[in-house]
Amino acid sequence: MDYKETLSKLKTDLYKRLKNHSKRIKHVEGVATCMKVFSKRYDLNIDKAQIIAYLHDLTKYESIPYHLKNIEQAYKDTFANDPYYLHALSAAYIGKTHYQIDDSSIIHAVMYHCTGYKDLDVYGRLLIISDICEPNRPYEDAKDIYELAFNNLEEAYQRSIRIKYTSHLLHNDQIHPWFDTQIFNEKGHV
Ligand SMILES: [Fe+2]
Ligand SMILES: [Fe+2]
Repeated sequence: MDYKETLSKLKTDLYKRLKNHSKRIKHVEGVATCMKVFSKRYDLNIDKAQIIAYLHDLTKYESIPYHLKNIEQAYKDTFANDPYYLHALSAAYIGKTHYQIDDSSIIHAVMYHCTGYKDLDVYGRLLIISDICEPNRPYEDAKDIYELAFNNLEEAYQRSIRIKYTSHLLHNDQIHPWFDTQIFNEKGHV
């Protein structure tokens, strides 16, 4: 696949889809900037990192029927009671089918950005970190986590997962079984 071409198509689509959601556009741009900076630090492919950023919330405001139509059939039951997470799955699906993204690291990063996943690679971990620490986010620890990510990626990932966990509990009352809670078992309670 051609990363530059995919990125350019994706950006056009994102600005169209989110035209009534300027705050979300700012968030995505913030995530893209963080991904770019972190990619330089860790010697990663910047275009690939940008694709991940621009894809991750692409379907955020689509309807539940849209999500259910655009996810792998096998996941329908898994997420029946957790609509919040569906945008991660439908964005990954659109990435695979519409954009023909054949790099599974991109697809996994997007698919697991709400829950984390113990086997996520560096791109997936950096998306979760960037999703929490980009400058438009309200989290108190955002700046600390941003700085931490330059020196200790794993610690920054775990702190980001903890914030996601707390925020999910606050807004959704329940935690999906996919959630990467393994880090809590290793290090004690959240
Ligand atoms: Fe998201
Ligand atoms: Fe996001």
